[in-house]
Amino acid sequence: MNSAAHSPSSLIDLTHVQKSYDGKTLVIKDLNLSIAKGEFLTLLGASGSGKTTTLMMLAGFETPTRGEIRMAGKPIQNVPAHKRGMGMVFQNYALFPHMTVSENLAYPLKMRGLDRSTIETKVKRAIDMVQLHDMQLRRPSELSGGQQQRVALARAMVFEPQVILMDEPLGALDKNLREHMQYEIKQLHRSLGVTVVYVTHDQGEALTMSDRVAVFHQGDIAQIGAPTTLYEHPENAYVATFIGENNVLHGQLKGRQGEQVDVALNAGLNTRGVAVGALGATGQDIQLLIRPEKVRLCAIGPSSYQATLADRVYLGDHIRVHLKLSNGDTLIVKTANDQSINALRNGQPVGFTWNPEDARVFTAR
Ligand SMILES: Nc1ncnc2c1ncn2[C@@H]1O[C@H](COP(=O)(O)OP(=O)(O)OP(=O)(O)O)[C@@H](O)[C@H]1O
Ligand SMILES: [Mg+2]
Repeated sequence: MNSAAHSPSSLIDLTHVQKSYDGKTLVIKDLNLSIAKGEFLTLLGASGSGKTTTLMMLAGFETPTRGEIRMAGKPIQNVPAHKRGMGMVFQNYALFPHMTVSENLAYPLKMRGLDRSTIETKVKRAIDMVQLHDMQLRRPSELSGGQQQRVALARAMVFEPQVILMDEPLGALDKNLREHMQYEIKQLHRSLGVTVVYVTHDQGEALTMSDRVAVFHQGDIAQIGAPTTLYEHPENAYVATFIGENNVLHGQLKGRQGEQVDVALNAGLNTRGVAVGALGATGQDIQLLIRPEKVRLCAIGPSSYQATLADRVYLGDHIRVHLKLSNGDTLIVKTANDQSINALRNGQPVGFTWNPEDARVFTAR
């Protein structure tokens, strides 16, 4: 991942990119990232982790403090934004307020000196693409937020760029429209084969739309991979807790059994999990992570662990059960909504278990 080489399938390469706005703090620390042609890559991360900064450097609105950005193998640092041939959609769509929808869409084509009939054909196709037929003559102020975002999307695509950069383009939309637009963007990506770099802090959006997701954490990529890889095989505790939900239980390393390790948890359980990364020697402080849907409630017996029922939260299709462990830690269990759960009382002892292959053990930070 840290290789500086340009791989034949990559369209954009960032190598050892750093960015500081004030000359002191690095908001991007050492970014090494290759984006494949036709890929849908999402930059996902907490607020302030450096997503927009990275997109701005790709767009040409910010320059890296150090390092290099190449497109098709050629450095683009000195290529101004409007010559990079990238379509852009930002959260505050910035349509031209005095122009109609059609005029907004024609603008990037006029700028590129295309002839009138070509412009007409392309604008018509763009309008078809985002299904805004009846809105062509309206100005942005006469459109809903979602319609404006569709125009912004069409305008970013109308000149058939190789790359489209989108920074939280659906941020202002309600859930239904958001899901509809996610679907439309995905369809457009598939049908046009364009390379998309997408920024969001909504992990559901990132996981459903992307070929790969780069999880940003304090100016670094904590992990990059396919959505299933990030969910099933997080490489560090940050990604494990950021993507989806995980119970985090602290304890010490007791021994190693191949891929798995025996651990003694502070909650008084002796258990086993899959070791991730170097864990150090016996006695080392570790954290064991287990997803709520991977914990099973069961009868109390020799092979079960035991806790007391603290609470149940009804969520329609499933129930979240809060268990209190002997040291006071809470363990969340996600379980099907069935009668046996409803028969239990708060404060009552309950048995639970998990498969060691579903528990992941990391060194404690
Ligand atoms: N123009 C700027 N001048 C100085 N500092 C900046 C500037 N833009 C961003 N920063 C700082 O750089 C860091 C990264 O910001 P960035 O906008 O890239 O984060 P982000 O991941 O896009 O966050 P969000 O999810 O809130 O949009 C933050 O600490 C931010 O305060
Ligand atoms: Mg941002």
